[in-house]
Amino acid sequence: MAWNGSVPVIYGSWPLDVFKQYAALTGTHELPQLFSLAYHQSRWNYNDERDVTAVSAKFDEFNIPMDTMWLDIEYTDGKRYFTWDKFKFPQPLTMIKNLTELGRHLVVIIDPHIKRDNGYFFHQDCTEKGYYVKTREGNDYEGWCWPGSASYPDFFNPDVRQYYASQFDTSRFQTVTTDVMLWNDMNEPSVFNGPEITAPKDLIHYGNWEHRDVHNLYGHMHLMGTFAGLQQRDPNQRPFILTRAHFAGSQRYAAIWTGDNLADWTHLQHSIKMCLTEAVAGFSFCGADVGGFFGNPDSELLERWYQTGAFLPFFRAHAHIDTKRREPWLYPERTRLVIQNAIRKRYSYLSLWYTAFFELEQTGAPVIRPLLTHYPFDKETFGIDNQLLVQDRLLVKPVMQQGVSKVDVYFPAIDDKKNGDLWYDVETYERQDRVGYVTVPVTEYKIPVWQRGGSILAKKERQRRASTLMLHDPYTLIICLDRDRKAVGTLYLDDEKSYAYREGQYIYVSYEFADNQLTNNFIGKPKYKSDAWIERIVIAGLERVPSGAKITVNGVQQSLEVTRQGGAVVVRKPAVKMDIDFVLTLNYE
Ligand code: NOJ
Repeated sequence: MAWNGSVPVIYGSWPLDVFKQYAALTGTHELPQLFSLAYHQSRWNYNDERDVTAVSAKFDEFNIPMDTMWLDIEYTDGKRYFTWDKFKFPQPLTMIKNLTELGRHLVVIIDPHIKRDNGYFFHQDCTEKGYYVKTREGNDYEGWCWPGSASYPDFFNPDVRQYYASQFDTSRFQTVTTDVMLWNDMNEPSVFNGPEITAPKDLIHYGNWEHRDVHNLYGHMHLMGTFAGLQQRDPNQRPFILTRAHFAGSQRYAAIWTGDNLADWTHLQHSIKMCLTEAVAGFSFCGADVGGFFGNPDSELLERWYQTGAFLPFFRAHAHIDTKRREPWLYPERTRLVIQNAIRKRYSYLSLWYTAFFELEQTGAPVIRPLLTHYPFDKETFGIDNQLLVQDRLLVKPVMQQGVSKVDVYFPAIDDKKNGDLWYDVETYERQDRVGYVTVPVTEYKIPVWQRGGSILAKKERQRRASTLMLHDPYTLIICLDRDRKAVGTLYLDDEKSYAYREGQYIYVSYEFADNQLTNNFIGKPKYKSDAWIERIVIAGLERVPSGAKITVNGVQQSLEVTRQGGAVVVRKPAVKMDIDFVLTLNYE
């Protein structure tokens, strides 16, 4: 059908309404497994089993949390996907088991170009069954990619997708476990000797479509095959897939990254701009290669890149095969400690990221947002693409310039009279009540982040080697008060891995603070049984320090100690389980 020149417009009274409507049309990422929101360690390539095991061990030696090791194309037997290089990886299952026992995951790459090798089962099957994309003469198209001469499965054909999906079953792909997740790269598709490095426009797809008509969907169809494969392989585990190519709606299947960037400051700055653009276009689960794919970042750039990546939804370090190794301990101690600090900050906020992704699935509201989302009356926000909001709770202005000791941060107005929110520095709880640009000093460790007055969020502050080991760790509630000394905020928790949440196995709670009292309200019946509890409650923005607090649970009252911490007060050990109703009251005597 020819385009009639009309342009669809989505109306809404508020930017978030428009984003949500777009999500209603194209879908959202489903709640990811929590580990996939933690830190990922990748490079092209980790060379062999010893390398993988040694890198994982070094993270432990230096007390740097890390959840996932990644294997790029060199792990395969000559770029034949669904196989392993038997010399470098003689015992993949043992290697995977070792990672899994530490609470870690493995992600392996599987690209869509298939090596034209008559001894390769996948090529044999696709040739025999006629599964490849065809030339206009009706022959299997041959292009050139990593394996050399390659053909491309026609994922538009449902039989091809089902064949592909069935390959992920561990009865066939016996050298992985159901905990191994997937990276789909080069799925534009990339063809080194093709026009514009992709497939010729006159190739023919299933249903007699010419490639020119469906080019932008090829990666999407590839993802559908992988997603089906992972769900069929283990119906109760949420798939994790990273993809390079994507189309409107691909967010239902995969996370994305911004592709091959450079280790330079401008590309660090692009990572926020690109991910914000993706987020309002439906793709919240976005990140950029931390450190830059090409080139060798110096200490300062690497440090600042980790700090920025720690506040984007997908957080993965990755590097080109020709770059110098750049694991954090290969840099001077200071750099290692700054990186450790940034990654630990990320882990402390995992509950917020997880809640935000649950709410994305429920409502379509992007996880990260440009300032204009919540401050549309302030025109200055329209042009700001070097700051971001995490939901409407955090404002982040990473340091993305070389050699600076201060940054200018824009605190937006909530109306056209230049009234603003209150913002609290997340480390000191120092309060910011101005509207407009404010210059704030930064050290090498500082990630400038503020929590909005009026919001409540939950953190986990115990450090572990991997997020999977934090499942039952206690929570700290951070309450930042607005000018009326009120705040609200949600927390979502479940088993962090399975689809049981779709059967109601979760706890979703809204906290509300008003009149010196904190209460909780369950959204839906809390069915999930969690061992976690509330360890601490931090309240910023009180007029006076209370003399104490009391908590009432099931009619039983208990006194709690209150101490000062920077510009906030801390209520110690409320020790209440996550699925229990309580009322906490501050005392002033
Ligand atoms: C291109 C991808 O963008 C990059 O991340 C990857 O390392 C290489 N392909 C090799 O697989």
